[in-house]
Amino acid sequence: MLNQIPQPLLQPRRLGDLLLPNRVVMAPLTRGRANNPGHVPNDLMREYYEQRATAGLIISEGIWVSEDGQGWLGAPGIYNREQVAGWKAITDAIHGKGGRIFAQLWHQGAVSHPSFFHDGRLPLAAIGDRSDADGARCEWNDDDDNSARDDAGRHSASHRRLPQRRKDR
Ligand SMILES: Cc1cc2nc3c(=O)[nH]c(=O)nc-3n(C[C@H](O)[C@H](O)[C@H](O)COP(=O)(O)O)c2cc1C
Repeated sequence: MLNQIPQPLLQPRRLGDLLLPNRVVMAPLTRGRANNPGHVPNDLMREYYEQRATAGLIISEGIWVSEDGQGWLGAPGIYNREQVAGWKAITDAIHGKGGRIFAQLWHQGAVSHPSFFHDGRLPLAAIGDRSDADGARCEWNDDDDNSARDDAGRHSASHRRLPQRRKDR
């Protein structure tokens, strides 16, 4: 009978110390729902992840490791106590349903944009340009800025242009 054939996706799979009850792995999906000034994970996100806890493994959306690392509207952070508490509510909910989640850590680096920083800072990037990678902050020219913005004029997607080195460094 067809329905007696074991479904490979539903078979357990060992992953390091973890025994996944099935081979369904949820891809990281930024949903932009931590759309609050502190980038704090919230109840909507808890509900979203809890609903998916029967996957063998969930990989979280990208999560800022630093305030300096932001560069995508509504993405959550995990660099202060409030954010960690938000994630704890989410992981507790997933574990309560018998699930597992890995955090995908994110630093937007050179593809961030100055509009994410309201104190004059520029996005922090490991490189200033590809030819002289000695560490630098980035510089943008808004004249050729055609990236999407929300109603407040903030960027809703990262700026894809390669940054130039700051001239004052
Ligand atoms: C709305 C959306 C959000 C996404 N967010 C992330 C993310 O936070 N991190 C990541 O690594 N990939 C992200 N991705 C890429 C998906 O994980 C990727 O599309 C998925 O792994 C399937 O791979 P494929 O698009 O190559 O088929 C996102 C994709 C979509 C459509």
